[in-house]
Amino acid sequence: MFDDLDKYQEEIRAFKETSPEKIENFRIKYLGKKGILNDLFAKFKLVPVNEKKQFGRSLNILKDLVLKKLEALKSKNIQVKQAKISEDLSRTAYPIHSGSRHPISIVTSKIIDIFSQIGFNISEGPEIEDDWHNFTALNLEENHPARDMQDTFFIQSNPDILLRTHTSSVQVRYMEKNTPPIRTISPGRVYRNEAISSRSHCIFHQVEGLYIDNQVSFSSLKQIILYFTKALFGKSKIRFRPSYFPFTEPSAEVDIFWGLESEADYRITKGTGWLEIMGCGMVDPNVLSNCKIDSEKFSGYAFGIGIERIAMLLYQIDDIRLFFENDIRFLEQFKGKF
Ligand code: PHE
Repeated sequence: MFDDLDKYQEEIRAFKETSPEKIENFRIKYLGKKGILNDLFAKFKLVPVNEKKQFGRSLNILKDLVLKKLEALKSKNIQVKQAKISEDLSRTAYPIHSGSRHPISIVTSKIIDIFSQIGFNISEGPEIEDDWHNFTALNLEENHPARDMQDTFFIQSNPDILLRTHTSSVQVRYMEKNTPPIRTISPGRVYRNEAISSRSHCIFHQVEGLYIDNQVSFSSLKQIILYFTKALFGKSKIRFRPSYFPFTEPSAEVDIFWGLESEADYRITKGTGWLEIMGCGMVDPNVLSNCKIDSEKFSGYAFGIGIERIAMLLYQIDDIRLFFENDIRFLEQFKGKF
């Protein structure tokens, strides 16, 4: 019996394993319910009386030995772990994954910056609009054929409520509440009932601009657009093509000369070198009167820019759907862009 105790003592002293499983097995082997120590304590009653005292003492020593060994091994393990963590103090820190801004936000803030530098403020309005602000006040009375230009999502139970088709509705709200001079841009999301394809979507974003004062002329409009195209694209060759919008008279569409230097230029400009970037015109006097602005005294211009279109040009994106899919591989490419 005493020989066994010596053997165990030796085994405990020699135990050097550091892996957590092996340490745990060692603990169970000695201290577990069916472990060696319990077994030995059970044999205590078999020991002759004169040896009981010494046997008991030896058992306690053995138990103590196991406990100390376990403690030593565990604290060694912690030290090893700590050493591992700090083993290379010169290594670079773990990269912090930063997000990226959405290309639509990037372009919107670029446009806002450009116009705020020349005194335009920002106005916002509701995306769920009423007929008056989206259509009627803008010279598009009920049954006006030009309403078809903007396929609209109506609320079925109430045809007076719709999802705004342009942010011109915000301009109406702004004119109703403010008096000239008015210089405001209205960025925001708009909705049209269009089939979704690589070129068009039922959701998109606009920035519309409005300037009303006395003696605002078409030439001021031209200058402001020239300033804008220079600032955003670095291009100063633009042309105005006559167009039609119910809320402006005269109306125009603006093209910029993109160039024909690469194959991509040929593709996006359909071989002409020119690209349409916005609609604009002089605010129709009816619209001013609808918004309680004296059309004899004041005149103004307005313009509307599609943000997706501009972002597609700036970043050479050829499918508008990418903006709305939230694919991380697409969005990540805009890291660090502002
Ligand atoms: N509101 C027009 C549209 O959404 C754009 C526009 C705005 C045209 C202002 C002229 C003047 O198509």
